[in-house]
Amino acid sequence: MSLYSNIPSTPPGAKEFLSRLPLFAELEIEQLEQVAQRVHRREFAPGVTLFHQDMPGTMMYMLESGSVRVISIGRTGQELTLNVLGPGEIFGELSILDGRQRSATAVTLAPTVIWLLSQADLKEFMNKFPTVNQAMIQILVERVRSTARRLEAMTFQDVLGRLAFELLSLAERSGRPCEAGIEITIPLTQVDLATMVGATRESVNKAVSVLRSKNLIEFDGTSWFLQDPQGMQQILYERGR
Ligand code: CMP
Repeated sequence: MSLYSNIPSTPPGAKEFLSRLPLFAELEIEQLEQVAQRVHRREFAPGVTLFHQDMPGTMMYMLESGSVRVISIGRTGQELTLNVLGPGEIFGELSILDGRQRSATAVTLAPTVIWLLSQADLKEFMNKFPTVNQAMIQILVERVRSTARRLEAMTFQDVLGRLAFELLSLAERSGRPCEAGIEITIPLTQVDLATMVGATRESVNKAVSVLRSKNLIEFDGTSWFLQDPQGMQQILYERGR
C-alpha cells in the first residue's frame, strides 16, 4: 500500500515475475495486477532457514533465483532431502492449503530471491480465478508423480543408481547445456547429495568416483556436470531391480 493513498502499489518486477510462473501464467493482465499488488520480494543469503518443519504455515514461497533445499529432519537430527528447488518453482503451499503444520524445513543453498504470498491471498485467488486453481492441481500432481519416481529409485536402486537418478533429475529440471555436457546450476556438496540419496557421505564419495571413472560426471569445485546423460540412464537401467 502506498504511504500517500489507499491505492495498493505493485512492487517493481512483480508482474513480470508472476507471469512466468506456471501458477499464474494463464491469468489476464488485470487479474495478474491484482496478484502483483499482494506479493512481497525478499533476498536471502545461503544457509538461511526459511521455515521449520512442524511450524504453522502462513506464506507460500515463489523462487525467482537461487535454490532451496526442502529437508525432512528425523528425531535424532538426521536429514533427508525431499527436494531441491530452483527458479520458477513454488514451495510452502501444502500447509497453506490444508491448514496443518509445515511438512518439511526449507533452507537456502545459494543467494536466493523469493516472492511471498499470504495464505489468505492465495486462497482468495484460487477461489476467484479457476486457472490458478487448475495450475495448483497440476503442480500438486507433478509433486506426487516425482515423489513416486524418487521412492521407486530409493527402493529399487543401490547408492550408485540413486545418485545417477538424482543427478539426472536435477539436470532435467535445472540443467544448462555447456561444452562439457549439462551443468547442474544448483550448488551441491557431497554431503547434500548424501542427504538426497539416503546414504553416508563415504558411500556417495565412492559412487561419485565410479561415475567419474566412467567419464559420466565431473565436478569443478562448484558445479556438477553430466558429461554423458545417456550413459547415466544406462546405469539406472542396468542396476534397477
Ligand atoms: P509445506 O508443508 O507448507 O512446507 C514444506 C514444503 O516443502 C511443502 O509445503 C512443499 O512445498 C515442500 N515439500 C514437502 N514435501 C515434499 C516432497 N516430498 N517433494 C517435494 N516438495 C515437498
